[in-house]
Amino acid sequence: MHIVITGGAGFIGHHAVWQALERGWQVTVLDNFYTGKLENLILPSGNLPGGLTVYECDIAAGPIPDIKNVDYLLHLAAPVSVQESLEDWEKYYRGIVHGSERIFKWARERGCQSIVAASTAAVYGDSEEWPFQETTTPRPMSPYAEYKLEMESILDEYHSFTTQAAALRFFNVFGEGQPDDVGYVSAIPIFKKQFESYQPITVTGDGRQTRDFVYVGDVVEACFAALTRPNAGFETMPVWNVASGEETSILDIAETFGGEIVHIEEREEPRRSVANTSLINQTLDWRPSVNVLQWIKEQRDA
Ligand SMILES: NC(=O)c1ccc[n+]([C@@H]2O[C@H](COP(=O)([O-])OP(=O)(O)OC[C@H]3O[C@@H](n4cnc5c(N)ncnc54)[C@H](O)[C@@H]3O)[C@@H](O)[C@H]2O)c1
Repeated sequence: MHIVITGGAGFIGHHAVWQALERGWQVTVLDNFYTGKLENLILPSGNLPGGLTVYECDIAAGPIPDIKNVDYLLHLAAPVSVQESLEDWEKYYRGIVHGSERIFKWARERGCQSIVAASTAAVYGDSEEWPFQETTTPRPMSPYAEYKLEMESILDEYHSFTTQAAALRFFNVFGEGQPDDVGYVSAIPIFKKQFESYQPITVTGDGRQTRDFVYVGDVVEACFAALTRPNAGFETMPVWNVASGEETSILDIAETFGGEIVHIEEREEPRRSVANTSLINQTLDWRPSVNVLQWIKEQRDA
């Protein structure tokens, strides 16, 4: 099998690359290295592993390499900061809407049999219909979320009997190798860095806002389950929440690290976020395997 992974040098992407190589697949990465890092993909020897080809390529502009025999496309490339999208919506339109359109077309022209694209829980925005189901009316609060929703509808047009497609709405992903410096910087790597350097942990607002945290290895498993599912000739493209289904407060995360906590100014952000995961549990037989607070304890005590 040959899989093309856009954004393969990024946080989720590099886990997907290593997992695909372990399955014995041939892997091609397309990445512009805007937030991704080549070092995520190289062996201690300094070489790329066998079976992996990496192209520096912006999927939203310029030529995309003419690669043959593409079986699967895992589309993860995107600019990823909600905050930045509020300041520079054009960059997000170009990166998410235009980039996705181009790569979906490119994949179909190459006879790709299955496309999975990363969407986001941010599409639910400030909806109060907790837990969020795939059918919950979206209420995006940023261009980032708005354009991810638009990407889902573009992908829907590519879903056919020959090319099956699916959009996965990732909730808050955590795990090894999560950046604390570029792109979307989540609370967990910030707190981890603060904890490890004996700094107080900075919690926004009262910290009682909640999120649904899902482990990166589980997210990658969900991507592969969606890509390789039998082609059932779906009439409509599936959209799946990828989440733990558990609600954890930011304060719980901070307290699990331990040490001093200071509260800083709150941000305009959803108060609660938690998914209903019954659809993906039932249709893909996918379940998360790692609990966020347990993972933090292991990191803390390592
Ligand atoms: N991390 C999360 O909690 C989370 C939650 C919801 C959705 N997502 C989605 O998952 C995907 C991966 O996110 P991540 O957390 O690994 O972020 P990341 O920033 O680590 O990865 C994104 C990758 O895409 C690359 N990229 C960006 N624009 C590109 C372009 N035009 N052409 C080629 N490459 C480009 C970056 O260099 C980077 O390697 C994104 O689509 C993101 O929106 C992530």
